[in-house]
Amino acid sequence: MTLPVLLDVDTGVDDALAILFAVAHPDIELLGITCVAGNTSLENVVANTLRVLDVADAPSVPVAGGAVRPLIEPARASHVHGSDGLGEVSRDPDFARPQSGRRADPRHAVDLIRDILLTATTPVTIVALAPQTNLALLLRQHPELAPRIERILFMGGSAGVGNATPVAEFNVWHDPEAAAIVLDSGVPTFMYGLDVFNQVTVDQADADALLHAPRASARLAGSLLQFPMGDDPDAPDGSSDRPLTTNGAPYTGHIGDAGALCALVDPGALRIERRPVRVELAGFARGQTIVDRRQRVGEDAIHPAGASAGAAGPAAVGEGSAGTLPGPALVDVALDVDRARYARLFLDTIARLP
Ligand code: RIB
Ligand code: CA
Repeated sequence: MTLPVLLDVDTGVDDALAILFAVAHPDIELLGITCVAGNTSLENVVANTLRVLDVADAPSVPVAGGAVRPLIEPARASHVHGSDGLGEVSRDPDFARPQSGRRADPRHAVDLIRDILLTATTPVTIVALAPQTNLALLLRQHPELAPRIERILFMGGSAGVGNATPVAEFNVWHDPEAAAIVLDSGVPTFMYGLDVFNQVTVDQADADALLHAPRASARLAGSLLQFPMGDDPDAPDGSSDRPLTTNGAPYTGHIGDAGALCALVDPGALRIERRPVRVELAGFARGQTIVDRRQRVGEDAIHPAGASAGAAGPAAVGEGSAGTLPGPALVDVALDVDRARYARLFLDTIARLP
């Protein structure tokens, strides 16, 4: 039974790996891809997404551009993915092949998502691999469509350390208001955050083998894996002594966003807890996902922030008491992963590409 899926991307080295995975995996029915500014400009994201689909010789799938910047913040492209947003992979001979006739869909991303949700015969899973600006706009413009979303599985956030800041992960940090709107929308959400994102890597020998594969799609995956992303899971103090890649950077082999697609098709490899999650919108921690992993009710239940003297605190986490803001949303949070299982799943799936 295939799963109807819509991807929201900021392609992006690892978004490209995720797109290759989604095209190749037999249990995923890819209904559409929407693009948003994040790792690079919206224009680059759309162009990169179309090229990846070309190299993968993917079936026709609608690709639509969306928000050019976050709801409040200016666009703040990630420095990690290079000037083209694809780790300079666009200079690869495979990648530089003449473009196909594939073109972006003329609709805005929100309209494409709306039309996909209205025409799908069963609720659609949205996999968000980027700042969630498009999804926030959809949920604000079409709240009546929320029941047509099976769930939103998002790469974003962290129960621990950040990457964009000491405590905030890039996708949520880039548009914190959008992430807060999505979490508080009532749509079931699943958080594939840095706690697992930073762990899943493939061995350099496997990445190098892809570089020399007969198929352009596999060679593209091999090239993308050479680009250093994420923290070295074996060197939490940053003292990575990994061998260098073909472009002279320490090899890390992160599959990044593609791990969120692994979570979609094989959640059994994860340790998941359903926890209250809030997005911090102010101060030095802006963009942090505050994952409440306490085993008991704390002082904040008795003395909620901003409550007047004597006001009752929320009866339980996830519920708001009369007159106060609703409690934080309950989110399925991935906290640990069988790294080898997802590395194998990724390589086996990429091997299925034409
Ligand atoms: O923090 C990692 C996330 O930010 C990934 O989705 C990466 O592609 C960037 O968008
Ligand atoms: Ca991304």
